[in-house]
Amino acid sequence: MKILLTGATGFIGGHIKAALIAAGHEMVSCSRQTGCNFSNMTTVEDWLPKLAGVDAVINAVGIIVESKDQSFDVLHRQAPAALFRACAKKGIGRVIQISALGADEASFTAYQLSKRAADDTLRGLDGLDWFILQPSLVYGEGSASMKMFSLLAALPVIPLVGDGQYQVQPVHVSDVVATVCRCLELDVKTQQTLAVVGAYPLTFAEWLQKVRQSNGRKHALLFKTPFSLMLQFANIGKFIMPVMSPDNLKMLKAGNTADAGPITEFLGREPLKPEDGLQR
Ligand SMILES: NC(=O)c1ccc[n+]([C@@H]2O[C@H](COP(=O)([O-])OP(=O)(O)OC[C@H]3O[C@@H](n4cnc5c(N)ncnc54)[C@H](OP(=O)(O)O)[C@@H]3O)[C@@H](O)[C@H]2O)c1
Repeated sequence: MKILLTGATGFIGGHIKAALIAAGHEMVSCSRQTGCNFSNMTTVEDWLPKLAGVDAVINAVGIIVESKDQSFDVLHRQAPAALFRACAKKGIGRVIQISALGADEASFTAYQLSKRAADDTLRGLDGLDWFILQPSLVYGEGSASMKMFSLLAALPVIPLVGDGQYQVQPVHVSDVVATVCRCLELDVKTQQTLAVVGAYPLTFAEWLQKVRQSNGRKHALLFKTPFSLMLQFANIGKFIMPVMSPDNLKMLKAGNTADAGPITEFLGREPLKPEDGLQR
């Protein structure tokens, strides 16, 4: 297949690209490095020339914080919506949108709402064949968040955001890639939204201890912090470490889990348990 992959230079996109090249697909990468800036690709006409001869499209572009030139609304909603409409116009065989778990009716941050808006556009396009994949926290080689968690988990005493009892369900990047491959293999007409999660949920505190153990360290002492205080810190901290934005802390605290049954059925096997994924 000839596959247009946006976000091919990113963590998830990079893993998808490597796997699909290995599987013999012809990849057309779209990133700012190849002159494909989502900020300037907000109309159907911008996308149509990129789709010549393309059989499938995967959108893996995303940001976790906004900056002067990069807004959620343009990158997550406007440009993907134009891309999906162009796909419908061209009759592209399959569209795979990498969305995010939580981009649903309970969305409450600009990140989630922008993702949901793009997903809804795709759902509204008649005749198009699509998958909306909604991963929880994705970890694996090259993950920026994993680097941060590893640094945090290496501290002799680990400060938690709030009480650390909120639930996460990290999914290994190899399972995200396996899901994308399966989406491309399936040769029946389909329109599906799928939560891409790890084998089971655990608390954020347990996750940090597992990350720590995977690096050969014993259990650490954890200390809780008042969430309201962390939010105030985040208002200042976001200028040093943008990922520490108040919205991101609120999303973390809200929890990010889903039933692993559908992804298990889709893959024909259970997704990796965190202790197994961390060994990779
Ligand atoms: N990582 C996770 O835990 C996780 C969890 C759930 C959902 N997701 C979603 O999965 C997708 C990929 O995430 P990731 O972790 O792989 O992110 P990432 O490593 O930060 O990669 C982001 C990609 O987006 C591209 N990009 C950024 N701004 C762009 C622009 N203006 N025009 C064109 N491309 C642009 C980047 O390419 P260049 O900078 O090279 O242009 C890069 O390829 C995102 O939509 C994210 O929301 C991720």
